[in-house]
Amino acid sequence: MKALALVPLLWMASAQGSAALDQAALDYQQHCQQCHGANRFGASGPALLPESLSRIKPAEIRQVIASGRPASQMSGFAKVLSSARIDGLVTYLQQPPAIPPTWSDAEIRASHQVLNAVDSLPGTPQHAADPLNLFVVVEAGDHHINILDGDRFTVLARFASHFAVHGGPKFSPDGRFVYFASRDGWVSQYDLHNLKLIAEVRAGLNTRNLAVSKDGRWVLVGNYLPGNLVLLDARDLTPVKTIAAVGQDGTPSRVSAVYTAPPRDSFIVALKDVKEVWELSSAGQPDFVPRRIAAEDFLDDFSFSPDYRQLLATSRKANGGQVIDLDSGQVLSRIALPGMPHLGSGTWWRRNGDWVFATPNISQGLISVIDLKTWRLIKEIPTLGPGFFMRSHANSAYAWTDVFFGPDNDAIHLIDKQTLEIAHTLRPMPGKTAAHVEFSHDGRYLLLSIWANDGALIVYDSQTLEEVKRIPMNKPSGKYNVGNKIEFAEGTSH
Ligand code: HEC
Repeated sequence: MKALALVPLLWMASAQGSAALDQAALDYQQHCQQCHGANRFGASGPALLPESLSRIKPAEIRQVIASGRPASQMSGFAKVLSSARIDGLVTYLQQPPAIPPTWSDAEIRASHQVLNAVDSLPGTPQHAADPLNLFVVVEAGDHHINILDGDRFTVLARFASHFAVHGGPKFSPDGRFVYFASRDGWVSQYDLHNLKLIAEVRAGLNTRNLAVSKDGRWVLVGNYLPGNLVLLDARDLTPVKTIAAVGQDGTPSRVSAVYTAPPRDSFIVALKDVKEVWELSSAGQPDFVPRRIAAEDFLDDFSFSPDYRQLLATSRKANGGQVIDLDSGQVLSRIALPGMPHLGSGTWWRRNGDWVFATPNISQGLISVIDLKTWRLIKEIPTLGPGFFMRSHANSAYAWTDVFFGPDNDAIHLIDKQTLEIAHTLRPMPGKTAAHVEFSHDGRYLLLSIWANDGALIVYDSQTLEEVKRIPMNKPSGKYNVGNKIEFAEGTSH
């Protein structure tokens, strides 16, 4: 009896739900689509697909719709739409569109735009700064990029980026060009000699990151939506080909990440929905047909060993990590790392002549340190909370790691690379999140981000730990030193 009585109730609830969604679709057309696009792919405003919004909490989606975002085109709708209709929009935006979103090769090609022809520009730096000690600084608060002189710590150029630059920017091997990917799939090429944008293309609807081949000829973009890799000509981002991310057995996948492995002259690709790692050679006249390596688990992110022969990836099965040998394709080892390591942000250094690898953990306040010869966990360093980024430099005695999550997120730990103990804890701006450091090319200075709308970039002397300069910025996030990046230097991210 009871079960039967439930049926009409459920039916009524779902009918109500679908009526609210129908209303939301109408509200979207009337109030939102002129900025966010008829198909929610984005226009002057960002894309509003489930993949795009998965990084923010439903409460924040609601808050943005009701109150808007300060200093942007996004104004609040609390006066225009009832609370129930705003709730309807929050639900609606987290559902996939009725027609599955696609982004074809023709659409990629049509989005390609060359803004400045490289041939018409001088081939040498048109500024007085050391081209190998420039920093690219992403200001996430208002979506801008700063080019910073790494000796004088002055901003040489500042320009608007596409919404939410995603994954680290990557450089041509000579350090002249920098390539950015944005969350919504826009790829931009910028000339650091002339401080000018060269070209743009929309390579997908939702992008993870990009990588530049060892010889600087190719840019490979990894997408969640559609699940594929998009190959671009690095000279001006002309689209070359699309490679669908499909497993050996035909299962479609999203792409978690793509990185360059310079000694192998290849791209390594992590897949999110099939248990495979791909290697695509970029040597000579490459065909970009993936070599498939079986993995024990889906790959979110990974880190290379210093010689790029092995990769360390997370594995839920091992409740930690798996080490995959890229030559043999074998899983060499399993490491228990229960704190959810943020491997893409880990770093390695030499300790008593041997390489160690250290990674922060996202769900526990500890740094895991692994011996890279035996792949044994040699130490867990307790911290004030879970961390996100860790960086060092060959000329620094410390690895700097943030405490990104929790009440102590204004603290930064300096870990002694030899004793593996916390040597110092700094609180650069009490009460404000301190995150992500990057060293100057010679390692003498480092830049630290205060992750707040009224935040700052703080320059430290890496030896004396004295503050040298403070530059106000709107949520500065990643910083990338040209010299360290093109040398794939010890201590920085890959
Ligand atoms: C006049 C243009 C405009 C209109 C109209 C508009 N938006 Fe926006 N919206 C924007 C811009 C621009 C942003 C990015 C703001 C920023 O810089 O964070 C944005 C951001 C958002 C975000 C946050 C996205 C993210 O990933 O952080 C949501 C959600 C959103 N809008 C929903 C809506 C909804 C729902 C409507 C209609 C009720 C709407 N917007 C109407 C321009 C607009």
